[in-house]
Amino acid sequence: MLASVGVHTAEDSAAAPAVNRLVIRADQGKTTISRNIYGHFSEHLGRCVYEGYWVGEDSPIPNVRGIRQDVVAALKRSKTPVLRWPGGCFADEYHWKDGIGPREKRPAMVNTHWGGVVENNHFGTHEFMDLCEQIGCDAYISGNVGSGSVQEMMEWVEYLTSDASSPMANLRRQNGREKPWKVRYFGVGNESWGCGGNMTPEYYADQFRRYNTFVKNYGDSRLYRIACGASDFNYNWTEVLMARVGRRMDGLSVHYYTIPTGNWGRKGSATDFGEDLYHATLRRALEMETVVTKHGAIMDQHDPQKRIGMIVDEWGVWTDVEPGTNPGFLYQQNSLRDALVAAVTLNIFNQHADRVKMANIAQTINVLQAMILTDKEKMLLTPTYHVFEMYAVHHDATLLPTELQSADYSYGQDKIPAVTVSTSKDKSGRIHATFCNLNPNAVAEVNCALQGAQAGKISGRVLTAPTIQAHNTFESPQTVQPASFSDFKVQAGGFSVTLPAKSLVALEIE
Ligand code: AHR
Repeated sequence: MLASVGVHTAEDSAAAPAVNRLVIRADQGKTTISRNIYGHFSEHLGRCVYEGYWVGEDSPIPNVRGIRQDVVAALKRSKTPVLRWPGGCFADEYHWKDGIGPREKRPAMVNTHWGGVVENNHFGTHEFMDLCEQIGCDAYISGNVGSGSVQEMMEWVEYLTSDASSPMANLRRQNGREKPWKVRYFGVGNESWGCGGNMTPEYYADQFRRYNTFVKNYGDSRLYRIACGASDFNYNWTEVLMARVGRRMDGLSVHYYTIPTGNWGRKGSATDFGEDLYHATLRRALEMETVVTKHGAIMDQHDPQKRIGMIVDEWGVWTDVEPGTNPGFLYQQNSLRDALVAAVTLNIFNQHADRVKMANIAQTINVLQAMILTDKEKMLLTPTYHVFEMYAVHHDATLLPTELQSADYSYGQDKIPAVTVSTSKDKSGRIHATFCNLNPNAVAEVNCALQGAQAGKISGRVLTAPTIQAHNTFESPQTVQPASFSDFKVQAGGFSVTLPAKSLVALEIE
């Protein structure tokens, strides 16, 4: 990193021009960035599933078989690759047989984790698989270890994926689905160290081995089996799972949330914050680098070939709920700050694409760091949605190695790099670079050396806004949205780009 250019105050960092250098090794890529890094997570929580996706067949809101179409269209447009469901904590109290058959006959339950509301089970297995088919994404199902049984999990997998004439496959046919679905990803428990059963890693490792034995591959179905992983910096959990489960799993999860204040009791507002909490939030988000590197190093010791994927299946900003809303519904607004958190985090995942094979931001609609907010028939796209749409260029592209020297963005005693980046080459040979300038007070000029390729034509898009708190509302849904961008110059050996303050910029280089 270059010497710090901002020192302690906003005024200082506004005055100091940032000097940043990037080298892109355009001829040295060998790792594919899995499109699943851009995955989502949707739980039976607040208004995510009900109202968010599910409005019912009789709703005046345009829907196909009860699933609202504005939401499906938006998620298709941003190329959603995979969707995790039904939880979260809810998954370990969900009994899938309550969510099949005629809707009026499905038993209701109380969602004890999230608001104590009645869950009528109208959105179940068939509705979820229909949703995935409508979006065109893969399904990632989270099975119940905490309060379920081996038999229940075994039967769910049979119901979903078997084409035999067997009890569960026949029950599926009776409920209107002749052919099995294509389910690729299956999670065995969620947060088993906490809401999923308060287990020790040793106990959970044995539970995984037992449950997984009965999670069968039917016909040509080959499930990618994901074991419940650690929270944050709990490296012992990863060590125990790698040692005791090892080759029996395909993926090991990890959860890391960004809490603006770092205090779960008072997390901070989604929109009412100053530069202190803006800086702190981004600093905490950048800790994802430590999480991925350190869990990855433990995985490397047991799995140097990197066969087992790191699956970051819950991440994102978690703030206090919007005033006046049900605290159990986790409804929060989404600002330019959230967009920058998403952008730096996705840059980190891209850079670690050799190990990170999937990530699922929490949660898609109306909950935590959402892509979409709804209010009855109205729907808006959040700043975070736009990041996912702009970054879709990296899906299944080849990661290009980079070296970045960034100036610092300082606030008080704390400093973080002002600039982050990731670059890839897509199948048609175009290079994509996604830059963030986290400094809200100064532009960042980046001199980019392009090795092994020539910059011919460059085009760009930018996401920024007049303030770090800017967000979209139902009255003003386009306050934060991408715009075209042209503040770059082709020069000998590469190009330079001037990133606006508090922005993310996506460049395409041909
Ligand atoms: O995403 C909200 C909750 O956070 C999930 O249900 C749980 O897995 C995590 O603690």
